[in-house]
This record gives sequence, C-alpha cells and structure tokens, in this order.
Amino acid sequence: MILVTGATGNVGGALLGQLCSSGVPVRALVRSSERGDILRGYDCEIAVGAYEDPASLHTALHDVERVFLVAPAGEGMADLEIAALQAIRAGRPDARVVLLAAEGVDAPGERGGRVLAEHRRVVRHLRDSGLPGTVLAPGSFMQNLLRQAGSVQEHDVLALPAGTAAVNHVDVRDVAAVAAHVLTSDGHDGATYTVTGPEALTYEQVAASLAEVLGREVRYVDAPPQDARAALVGGGLSPWLADALLELHEAYRSGHGATVTDEVEKATGRPARPLRQFLTEHAAAFR
Ligand SMILES: NC(=O)c1ccc[n+]([C@@H]2O[C@H](COP(=O)([O-])OP(=O)(O)OC[C@H]3O[C@@H](n4cnc5c(N)ncnc54)[C@H](OP(=O)(O)O)[C@@H]3O)[C@@H](O)[C@H]2O)c1
Repeated sequence: MILVTGATGNVGGALLGQLCSSGVPVRALVRSSERGDILRGYDCEIAVGAYEDPASLHTALHDVERVFLVAPAGEGMADLEIAALQAIRAGRPDARVVLLAAEGVDAPGERGGRVLAEHRRVVRHLRDSGLPGTVLAPGSFMQNLLRQAGSVQEHDVLALPAGTAAVNHVDVRDVAAVAAHVLTSDGHDGATYTVTGPEALTYEQVAASLAEVLGREVRYVDAPPQDARAALVGGGLSPWLADALLELHEAYRSGHGATVTDEVEKATGRPARPLRQFLTEHAAAFR
C-alpha cells in the first residue's frame, strides 16, 4: 500500500491519478472528509488526517510500505513534514519515503532563501531518521505560470522579478511521473533526483512562446521586487511566501534553476513535457 499525502494538491493529485490508473493499491491522505470528496472519482482508499495529528497518521499508515510526502510551501512547512516523518518512524520504520523538496536542496551553501532552508531541514531529518528515503528536487512548476493568467488576459504582460534568468520549468505531471516510478520500483534509497523540464527558458522566451500560442503580443516585464511582492500579497499569498518567492527569483538571477536534467526521461522512457505543450494545453486560461 502506498500512502499519498497532498492528494488534493498539484503533485499529489497528479500522482494519485497516475498510481490509480496503473492499478497500484493507494491510500490518499486528506485533511477532512469534505476534501476527500474531491477524490471521489479515484479508485483509492481515503484516510482523514493531518501532520500535526500523530494519531490520525498512525491510522493512515496501517499496512503502508511507501509514503509520498509533501507539504505546502509556507512558514512551518519543515515542522509539519518532520512531524510526519516522526509518525512514520514510530509506526512504519521500514516504510520508504519519497519526499518532495525543491531543486538545490542538496547543493552546498544557503542559496534559494527560506523555502530551500525549510527543505534542507526536512531532508537532514529524513537522512538522520534511518528511514529509507528518496528526495525529489523539482525545478519551478509550469503550473506557477497560471498565476500570471490575469495579467496576461488584461494587460498582455508576464511580470516577474527574474531579470534575464533562464529557468527549467517542469510540468507537475512529470514530477508526479518520476514520483510514481520511484514509489513502484527499487534502487532509489538515499538518492536525490533533480527533476526538470527539457529546457531552460528566460521569461522573455516564455512570453514569446505564449504570444505564439495565443496569436497576439505578450510582453515580459522584469518587475521590480517590491511591485512583484505587492502583487503576490494582493493576490492572497502570505507575506512569508511572497518574500520566499522574491528570494527564489533572486537566486534565479544568479543561475539557480538553469540546470536541465533527464530524470523524467530516465524514469518514464519519454522526454519531459516542453513548456510550449503546457502553454498550448492551458491557452484558454490566458485568453
Ligand atoms: N511551485 C513550485 O514551483 C515548486 C517547485 C519545486 C518544489 N516545490 C515544492 O512543492 C511543494 C508543494 O507541492 P504542491 O504544489 O503539490 O502542493 P500544494 O498544491 O500546495 O498542496 C499541498 C497539499 O498538502 C496538504 N496539506 C496542507 N497542510 C497539511 C497538513 N497540515 N497535513 C496534511 N496535509 C496537508 C494540502 O491539503 P488541503 O488541500 O486540505 O489544503 C494539499 O493537498 C512545496 O514543498 C514546494 O516547496 C514547488
């Protein structure tokens, strides 16, 4: 049995779909039965629980051999995931953990800001826990670009504080495909896989690609960090997460996020989805 956490989220949701369609026994962890209703179409068990509630995890972990672990990027993320790792260690010490972190988590130094710092704490805890574990370290999700849909619709502008940085955008479905492979095959304990798209593109190139898909002009604007922060907070992000995203974009400007790997192809036998495919599939959101 595989326990998929974050099953109502980006990567966990895609992973749940992929595992269920290949007939693997799966249990999805959700925070309430109402959230579980979202997953009604999937052929999986549902367990209601939360990382801060060890008793709920103890029940959810019954008979589980492998766990996909993810928490939302935000303040306290590491504490939540460490609580989950402690519950797994206590209840299923032989269970294999596939942890979703972020690109650069294993790199020396402090680059990447507070989100990477949270991920580094969790990875250290996993490695010290004795649990067999694999870390997935994806690049920037293509799905993040959907946050720009309003600005593209209204102003034909993609505004981000990334300068001329090239970023290796990856589709969450490909991150999920690598997770599915690692969860259903052997030989991954102790590994960290950096999961990226097939190319590193500047946001000017992203805007040009979007313009071609939409058949109209779309401009990239290198947004001043404070304007970008105001837009993020205005759009509902917490100040902590808005600052975290500014730190990440600052890291992009100095080369973080430019590396491209072939982990998707190695895991799935096909190349990672290009950004152009993602933009074409989501064109309606930007129109
Ligand atoms: N966005 C990127 O470009 C990017 C790139 C690389 C790495 N990452 C990493 O990816 C992770 C986020 O993945 P995602 O986008 O798939 O997540 P997501 O869509 O934000 O979903 C988070 C999931 O965690 C669940 N959750 C929240 N709090 C919980 C708790 N206390 N106990 C149990 N479950 C809880 C949520 O449930 P509810 O539905 O009930 O809220 C949801 O299913 C972060 O660690 C981030 O740093 C992101």
